[in-house]
Amino acid sequence: MNESTRTGQSGFARDVDKGLSSDPKFLSSKYFYDEEGSRLFQEIMKLPEYYLTRSEMEIFTDQAEEICSAFSPDGQPFDLIELGAGDGQKTAVLVEHLLGTDSSFRFVPIDISSDSIETLTDKFRSRFPELEIRPEVGDYFRTLETFKRSSPRRKVILFLGSNVGNFTEENAVGFFRHLRDVVNPEDRLLVGFDLHKNPATILNAYDDSLGVTAKFNLNLLTRINRELDADFDIAEFNHYAGYHPLERAARSFLISLRDQTVTIGALGKKFEFRKWEPVFMEISQKYDLAMIEGLAQKSGFEIVENFFDSNRFYLDSLWRPSDTR
Ligand SMILES: C[S@@+](CC[C@H](N)C(=O)[O-])C[C@H]1O[C@@H](n2cnc3c(N)ncnc32)[C@H](O)[C@@H]1O
Repeated sequence: MNESTRTGQSGFARDVDKGLSSDPKFLSSKYFYDEEGSRLFQEIMKLPEYYLTRSEMEIFTDQAEEICSAFSPDGQPFDLIELGAGDGQKTAVLVEHLLGTDSSFRFVPIDISSDSIETLTDKFRSRFPELEIRPEVGDYFRTLETFKRSSPRRKVILFLGSNVGNFTEENAVGFFRHLRDVVNPEDRLLVGFDLHKNPATILNAYDDSLGVTAKFNLNLLTRINRELDADFDIAEFNHYAGYHPLERAARSFLISLRDQTVTIGALGKKFEFRKWEPVFMEISQKYDLAMIEGLAQKSGFEIVENFFDSNRFYLDSLWRPSDTR
């Protein structure tokens, strides 16, 4: 079964249609991760400019014990659920630690990309044969609906890699409120936030000197060509990234280099692009502590503990549902 079949090609087609019919045009970053997109993201994570993965890896490596013991302090069995798991390389550090303790848990990685889930599952099964793993391919917005019904066990939900940054602050509140509705008082949520810092450091992470991030963004056009029978000329679009220090937001765009018409066969439609017209691709919202406290509070959670890296570039924040909403 290919990616588009599993994730519902009609959903992909519908979202592309909606985004390219809007003014300004946009495409959803949740479709970045086909096989080539996942491969390119692995390259991005190794780039010297992309400090995010290294920072979160440092937190997990140095503070695995403190983090894992806060998941289920009373030793109750739990489901370790990861939303947007990707290749799970950082989560492997926590899983390895948990397997070395007497914790009783199973790992439920969820990702919209079947390529990511297949790779992660193969890697985890061979590295941790004793681990109970229940992979799921799907959109985590939909998976949330099944949470409450699925299991009475405690849930420890991981939302790592600054995935939360792909929401605006307002949408993040909506997402966490939704999550709040399906968790129980003893459940926990670990969220990875990229912190505001030197704007140049942030910008470089989204505009690397080797152009891998540019290829990663342009790959979505290649995916539309392949899966939706379109004729984007990739050479006629450029990647452009910016960071706005007041809004604490990095945004990336594809810029049309000339007036052009693109046909998307699966939609039976043509789309006009003006010279220099931007297509909005992704927001990467950065946070400071006050923003994170506000986000938790507005969403019906409270912070249990914050885990920083040594540079204070990045923060994994452990939340529990608060009594008041
Ligand atoms: C930036 S990567 C982070 C991967 C991993 N969490 C990490 O920290 O390295 C984002 C991942 O979230 C997945 N994703 C994005 N939107 C999603 C959605 N709505 N539902 C499920 N997965 C999603 C992508 O396929 C991708 O694997």
